[in-house]
Amino acid sequence: MAATDKIKISQGDITKLEVDAIVNAANETLLGGGGVDGAIHRAAGPELLKECRKLGGCPTGQAKLTKGYQLPAKYIIHTVGPVWHGGGHHEAKLLRSCYTTSFQLAADYDIRSIAFPAISCGIYRYPIEQAVAIAVDETLACLKRHPSIEQVIFACFGDEIFSAYQRDVNARRGTV
Ligand code: AR6
Repeated sequence: MAATDKIKISQGDITKLEVDAIVNAANETLLGGGGVDGAIHRAAGPELLKECRKLGGCPTGQAKLTKGYQLPAKYIIHTVGPVWHGGGHHEAKLLRSCYTTSFQLAADYDIRSIAFPAISCGIYRYPIEQAVAIAVDETLACLKRHPSIEQVIFACFGDEIFSAYQRDVNARRGTV
């Protein structure tokens, strides 16, 4: 199976997805926030914050795992994307590392299906086309590295992000 065949692009709320793990676009405190982070904490319930308090935060570009609590997903992988500061502050390397470390945790916990939001593309203002290219490129590399992972969903909020993922993945189909 080609790695691109394991990728699905969907529109809507990531908290509703029935996958082994969803990824949270968190901040370094791991204590909640707005955007997808707020939605995940609301949907998972207050037990999530209790577990997050024990984690001691997370550096940008890294990832930590918790249980999913009231979510359909068994696990949440919390990763911290970079704030966009114009591109000269290692943003691309740090964003790529969010995907690399999230997939490494997924493989370690035998997670077969995983859904990602568009990390850094909201409050952190990363340019969408560039963020999507990194997300897809690193996902394909990680799918090759971790063949146990069967499905990756890009959960998109809004038409602009949905179209950007579709364009990027379609352009690669048949070439990987
Ligand atoms: N399901 C899927 N995607 C969503 C959802 C949802 N329920 N809600 C928002 N998005 P953002 P960031 C999309 O701002 O840029 C938080 O305060 C959203 O439209 O959530 O990495 C954290 O605590 C956008 O496309 O994350 C951090 O402080 C994408 O998810 C900071 O925001 C990411 O937007 C992280 O900023």
